[in-house]
Order: sequence, then structure tokens, then C-alpha cells
Amino acid sequence: MTPDRVDELKNPVVRGRTIRINFNRTHISPERLMDKFVIRGGNPLVGSIRVSGAKNAALPAMAAALLTDEPVILENIPDVRDIQTERNLLVSMGAEVENPEAAYELVKTMRASTLVLGPLLARMGRARVSQPGGCAIGARPIDLHIKGLERLGASIRQEHGYIEASADRLRGGHIIFDKITVTGTEDLMMAATLAQGETIMENCAREPEVVDLAALLTKMGAKITGAGTHTIQIQGVDKLHGARHRIIPDRIEAGTFVIAAVLTGGDLSLTNCDPSHLGALIQKLQECGVNIRASTDSMRVTNGHRLVAADIVTEEYPGFPTDMQAQYMALATQAEGTAIITENIFENRFMHAQELVRMGANIRVEGRRAIVRGRTPLSSAAVQCSDLRASASLVIAALVADGETILDRVYHIDRGYERIEEKLKGVGAQIRRIGEILPKRAAAPSVVA
Ligand code: EPU
Repeated sequence: MTPDRVDELKNPVVRGRTIRINFNRTHISPERLMDKFVIRGGNPLVGSIRVSGAKNAALPAMAAALLTDEPVILENIPDVRDIQTERNLLVSMGAEVENPEAAYELVKTMRASTLVLGPLLARMGRARVSQPGGCAIGARPIDLHIKGLERLGASIRQEHGYIEASADRLRGGHIIFDKITVTGTEDLMMAATLAQGETIMENCAREPEVVDLAALLTKMGAKITGAGTHTIQIQGVDKLHGARHRIIPDRIEAGTFVIAAVLTGGDLSLTNCDPSHLGALIQKLQECGVNIRASTDSMRVTNGHRLVAADIVTEEYPGFPTDMQAQYMALATQAEGTAIITENIFENRFMHAQELVRMGANIRVEGRRAIVRGRTPLSSAAVQCSDLRASASLVIAALVADGETILDRVYHIDRGYERIEEKLKGVGAQIRRIGEILPKRAAAPSVVA
């Protein structure tokens, strides 16, 4: 076998026209949708966990492969359900490249599917992408993606639940986002790489995932400056080529394990991570009394002190990430004092609060604010996961609760955490997955990122 072929088998290879993705292995099978976790609390997490690649960087990177007909090799792709969904989406389009369509059945399960809109339009001149519909954490419209593409010369119609976009060739333009949007910035950045002329985008998201996507696009031949700042400039080129790229580590997975270690009174090292992406979280945890030592690619967390409550407000990067808000709420239940948690990004992202209350927490939700009074002992209960990060907060709470907690609907967790139960078990947690095997052809539940 040639070295290239060996690499292809190790890493997903995505080609815009003939899409081919090889996964070595996958632990998620569609018939395991009703799995539960059984978690017995009380064990400190001690040891070391290797952080996986970032789901939210891998998803746009896979969509970016649509911009070229050469292979794009992506390393450090996490084995999570959202990646499988995107793979299915790309494969479905690879078979119908003359009719580029992202169908509802695939898009409804993952909002990030909207990320194919910009690349398809830029390369194929047209795209038909299902509107994502409602979402567990808020309305999550995609109007900013659409307005931005119109500024680049696209004609867009919304009909029968689909966005139908067309353009002979996109042309550069000036886009000022009304509001900062992560996937909106990514979608437009991808579209602009193949537009005629220069695009200037202002009020852009500055997330590390945006910077990582710009790095991949640059390797593919795009001309981009300013990623990671509020203003991104893109000089359109005629063609992009293949590239090899390693996805950045998942900052949210790392942050989730840090909080789990703190609460269980553990001593945990995280490897293959990038603490520079976690500044706001690290600073806040230090304010709460946590010991964290960070190097360039690892972190060690020990809990020497009693935790004290600190307020948080979720903001766009580099502020406190909304994707860590639920996990932080679990921590706040165990801190001395009152913490006020303000959710600024999504309007309905407190569904974990009522489940934490069922486990003994004292939390009052008032609109976009949650008031958490600590410290209250947590006790086991049967709880339900409602979205990805809410589920993570319940896993954390269960790790410190008295007794055995049963977590239902862990398919939400499988969307974004790679083998979480194996990673936690490896550092001393008592956690097991129990399955209710469904018939092979059972319909997938409708879940949205
Ligand atoms: N918004 C609009 N119009 C748009 C787009 C966004 O009004 O066209 C609003 C949203 O409703 C929200 C705010 O803008 O109130 C920010 O949303 P954003 O577009 O930034 O979110 P996203 O790009 O859809 C990504 C992550 C989310 C993460 C958010 C915020 C991916 C695939 N998803 O979503 O990740 O919470 O940014 O940081 O990158 C998760 O991993 O659990 C997750 C939900």
C-alpha cells in the first residue's frame, strides 16, 4: 500500500466532487440511540485524558472540502455523531453533485449543516439546503448567512422549507454582520474564497475555530487576512486545491473535564489541548479557587481549596463561552455563595437547570439569568439530557452526586463528546453505558445543534 493510501485510511479524506471519507473505527451506531449512562458519584478523577479534535472546527473544515475537487485530508477528526452526520451529508451530495442539495432529513439533526451553503454556492453556482428549523437552545435563525451571501451577489429564495441559492459567480463585497455569528462568519469566509474580487467582513466571530478554518483555506490556496480579529479580508481566487490539515483540540471538551476534575476533588492532566483557547474559563476557575497549571499543550488541575462562587456572563470569544455555561452551573452548585449566570448568546439555554434542581441544586431561572445558591449536596436521580452541553453538566453533577444517577438520552452527548464514558472511566469514574438496542431501521430522533 502506498503511504498516501495508508494516510487516507487513517484520516478522513474529503473531495468536493467524489467525496470519500474513511473512518478507522466508530463507536457510535445508529441503533444505539436510546443508550443511558449509569454513574455512581464520589470518585475523584485522577490521571490523564487526551483531548480530542474540536467538533466545531472539524465541521466547517469538512464543508470546506466542497470548495475543491482535490483531496482534503483532515487529521484529528473526533469520532462523534455530528461528524458522522456531516459525512453522510457530504456523501449524499457527492452522489448528486449536479444537484447540490442538503436534504431536510440530514439538516434537521444538525444545524451546522448550513455550513455547506456557502461552499456549494461558491463552487457549483447553486445550492439547495434545507432550513434547519427549531432548536433546543433557542430560535437560531440563519438570516445572517443569507444576507451575507446576497451581499456577495447570490439570489436566494426560501421555498418549501428549503433555501435555494444561485449565482453565476459570487463577487466580492462588504459585509457587516448585524450580530457576531460563528458559523455565519465561517460560511461567508468559505463563499468569499472563490468570489471575484475582494470581500471585507466586519463584526466577525473571533473564535479559534474560525482561525483554524482560515488556516485550512489558506493551505488550499485562499487569500485571507485578519481571521481571529473582527475584520476579515478575503481576496477571491479562481480555484482552490487540496490540502492536509490537523484540526485544533476541542477546547470545550477540555473545559468539561477540567470542571469534572475540580468538582470531584481530583488531580487531572489534560494532554493534546490548547489552554490559550481557554483563557476566560481558566481565569474564572482561578477566581473560584481552583489550581490550574497550563503549558502550551497541556493543563493540570487540582482542587486544593474550597470553591467560592463567581458570576459569569457568556460572550463571544474571547469571553466566557456559552458552550461551557451548563458545566459551570454544575460547578456553581458546589461553590460557597451565590453565582449569577447570565446567558447572552442563546435565549433558551438553561434546560439543565431543572434537572440539576431535581438532583438537589438550588437554582432560580429568571429570563436570561440563573441564580445558583451553593453549596447544596447533590443526590442521584433519573435525569434527561436535552442538548449536548446540558448533558455534559448532568454527567458532571452525577460524578459528585450521592448514589447512582441514570442519564437518559445520551445520544445528545454522543453528538459532541468522543467516548466520554471511556475517558472518564480511565481516570477513575464509575460510569457505564447501558443500551436499549433499537431495531436497525428505527427513525433517528430529531436533535439539533
Ligand atoms: N444568529 C442570528 N442569525 C444568524 C446566525 C446567528 O440571529 O443568521 C444568532 C443566534 O441565534 C445566536 C447568536 O447569533 O443568538 C450566535 O449564534 P452563532 O451563529 O454564533 O452560533 P452557531 O454558529 O450556530 C456555533 C457553535 C455552537 C456555539 C455557538 C456560539 C458550531 C457548529 N456551533 O453555533 O456550538 O454554541 O457557535 O459560540 O460551531 C455546541 O457545540 O454545543 C454548540 C451549540
